[in-house]
Amino acid sequence: MPPDTLIDRPPTPAGLLSNREKDRLIERGFLGLYRWYTARSQETRNWNPDKSFDWRAMNKALPPEIITVIQGFFAVEQYAPDFTSNLIHLVRRSHGRSHFQMRWGSEEEKHADAWENAVLFSGQRSPQWIADYKDRLKSQTWELPFPDAIHNLVYTVFQERATQLNYLNMMKIAQGRSDKPQFQGVQDAVLAKVAQTIAVDEAAHYNFFLEGVRMYLYYYPEQTLKAIQNVIGQFSMPAATLIPDWQQFQETVYRAGIYGPRDFQRDVMQVAFRNMGIESRKALEHGIRKTREVPDFDGGNFKTTAIWDTFDYGQVEGDVKRLHVKIQDYEKDIGFDLYDPTGFVENPEMPRPQVQAADD
Ligand SMILES: [Fe+2]
Ligand SMILES: [Fe+2]
Repeated sequence: MPPDTLIDRPPTPAGLLSNREKDRLIERGFLGLYRWYTARSQETRNWNPDKSFDWRAMNKALPPEIITVIQGFFAVEQYAPDFTSNLIHLVRRSHGRSHFQMRWGSEEEKHADAWENAVLFSGQRSPQWIADYKDRLKSQTWELPFPDAIHNLVYTVFQERATQLNYLNMMKIAQGRSDKPQFQGVQDAVLAKVAQTIAVDEAAHYNFFLEGVRMYLYYYPEQTLKAIQNVIGQFSMPAATLIPDWQQFQETVYRAGIYGPRDFQRDVMQVAFRNMGIESRKALEHGIRKTREVPDFDGGNFKTTAIWDTFDYGQVEGDVKRLHVKIQDYEKDIGFDLYDPTGFVENPEMPRPQVQAADD
């Protein structure tokens, strides 16, 4: 340890985890999760945007609104290189997270190619039109919505869930299950399969980022809850400001019953909240207001009381423990456990209802 660290930083109180130790634990969790994820991705979701679909059989008479929506899906996904490079830079010091972002990028790249194929094989856009559109899109660069890693991680949880929902609702239309009168009799088995295949990827992405946020919630509850509050306060879909016909896309998506503000509230925010042990947006805001910050030790590690009432930390702890069991099973399967097994470490800051701390 460099000598200045000893002078500038008071030591972590006995029995608590230092930030450095917390960061190490989160990093180990990400690395184990990334390894598990990659193996599973290759085993179960190794599809190809050209060869996994019978493109020639795509419906050539889809309603124009459907084409507008597919085109918008393509427009967002084709920023995959920007999404990936920006996020990799942000987390480049983390093995688990930076390697994951490359894997994630390779999956997002397939989504862009599959949606482009869908636009082409709809028969309603010429190759020249697609090339010009792509040129216009690529003249702009996507930038990170937030400057730091934790906010971007939280943002991605909501964004992946919202994207999954968009695709599932498109699948429903293509399967002829929409209740909108304009889509009665519309069917396209190829489009339904594309939307479903990509939605499964988005669900896997959602889960990866969700597990990451849970680890942060567990070890850094206060900072993470504040990040969640900030992100939902200004959430919009990625690249909304870059896509030239965004307004028309958004209105079409809304009128088609695919995605709108109510869907975000009910099927994105509420679902993600439940998965993070947060009861509601109101409860989150109330809890954060109540939290009295007492600067305590180790540069920005705060000891607070109210924070633990803001969310169901018991649920989050159970989820983080389950994640570690999953990682340990994977490590045993490979033999990593013989060398350096990943272990779950309890956060001692968490108040335990049964056990009264003797040194309080
Ligand atoms: Fe995607
Ligand atoms: Fe995704």
